[in-house]
Amino acid sequence: MRKILVIHGPNLNLLGQRETEIYGKITLSEINDRLNKLASSQGFQLEILQSNHEGNIVDAIGQSANHFSAILINPAAYTHTSIAIRDALSAVKIPAVEVHLSNIYKREDFRQKSLTAPATHGQITGLGVDSYCLGLQALINLTQ
Ligand code: DQA
Repeated sequence: MRKILVIHGPNLNLLGQRETEIYGKITLSEINDRLNKLASSQGFQLEILQSNHEGNIVDAIGQSANHFSAILINPAAYTHTSIAIRDALSAVKIPAVEVHLSNIYKREDFRQKSLTAPATHGQITGLGVDSYCLGLQALINLTQ
């Protein structure tokens, strides 16, 4: 199975307009294009979900095990609040990598703790779109 699930959490649909001094001008569709190119050049297929709703993300993770070999996730604000997403990541036995565009450890105190990262293989933070590309490459390396 050479399919990877990519999950973008809340407000990432607003990239390009949202706090551009922090997140830059890149849009979500530009990020997705970069990821699709990287995946297809190595024989992987992506399914990409953006949701502003915690339950949708929990459902997608919970249903992922039989269909995907790995999960790339930016839980966005849910990183700092969601035990439900952490539990879903722990429940499925496929590798996940957490990514962030900004460096969450350089920001407000409430962003400096990730509840979700301990349920993943690793976290890449602060490198903009490269966080996503490096995270995806790591998952491809892990699963082949
Ligand atoms: C983010 C960091 C989070 O703290 C924030 O809530 C986001 C985006 C990032 O990619 O830098 O929405 O996950």
